[in-house]
Amino acid sequence: MNEALKNILNRNSPRELSKPHPSKEEMEIVYQAALRAPDHAWQRPSRFIQVTGQGLEKLSAVFVDYAKENIEGVSDATLQKYKEAPFRAPMIIILISEIKIHPKVPEIEQMLSTAAAAENILLALNALNFAGMWRTGVFALNEKIQKYLKLNDNQKVIGYLYVGTASGKQKKIPEMNTSEFVTEWI
Ligand SMILES: Cc1cc2nc3c(=O)[nH]c(=O)nc-3n(C[C@H](O)[C@H](O)[C@H](O)COP(=O)(O)O)c2cc1C
Repeated sequence: MNEALKNILNRNSPRELSKPHPSKEEMEIVYQAALRAPDHAWQRPSRFIQVTGQGLEKLSAVFVDYAKENIEGVSDATLQKYKEAPFRAPMIIILISEIKIHPKVPEIEQMLSTAAAAENILLALNALNFAGMWRTGVFALNEKIQKYLKLNDNQKVIGYLYVGTASGKQKKIPEMNTSEFVTEWI
C-alpha cells in the first residue's frame, strides 16, 4: 500500500510519550503540514504555542492557577493531578484558533480549520516516527483559559497536543467496519 495511506491508517494516540521530542528541523516540517489544512478564504486562524523544558513548568502553573480560580471546591488531589499533567510528554503544542470576523467564514469554520491542522500535525509526527495525543479536559474550549495563557479573547484554545516518542505497550489499532458509518446515495 502507498506509504501516505499507511501513515494515516496506522496513526494512533499513545498514552505514554517519552523523550526525545522532534527537533527544530522536524517541527518545521510538522508546522508546514499543519498550515496545509483547509482554510476557508485563507483566514489563517491557526496558531501554535510549542512548550518544552521550563515551558512545561510554566504551563503546569497556568493549569493550577486556572483550576484554583475557576473550579469550585477543587480538591488538593485534583490540583496535584493538574500540576503534573504537562509532564506526561516532553513537548506540548497548544492549539489556538485566532478568530477573525468575516462575512462568509464563521467562528466554527475557523475552529474546524485548526482541528484539521491538528490532525495534519498528528499525521506528520507519525510519518517522522513520533507521536501525539490530543487532549482537551477542563483547560480548553472555554472562554477563560486564554487569559491565563496571556492570549487575546479572540484566541480560542482548541486543545493540547502531547508530543513525543511512543513508549510503553503499543495500542492495537481497532478494526472498523465502514458499513456501520457510511451510507450511499446512488
Ligand atoms: C477534540 C479532542 C479532544 C480530546 N480530548 C481528550 C482528553 O482530554 N483526554 C483523553 O484521554 N483523550 C482525549 N481525546 C482522545 C484522544 O486524543 C485519542 O483520539 C483517543 O484516545 C483515541 O485514540 P486513537 O487516536 O489512537 O484512536 C480527544 C480527542 C479529540 C479529537
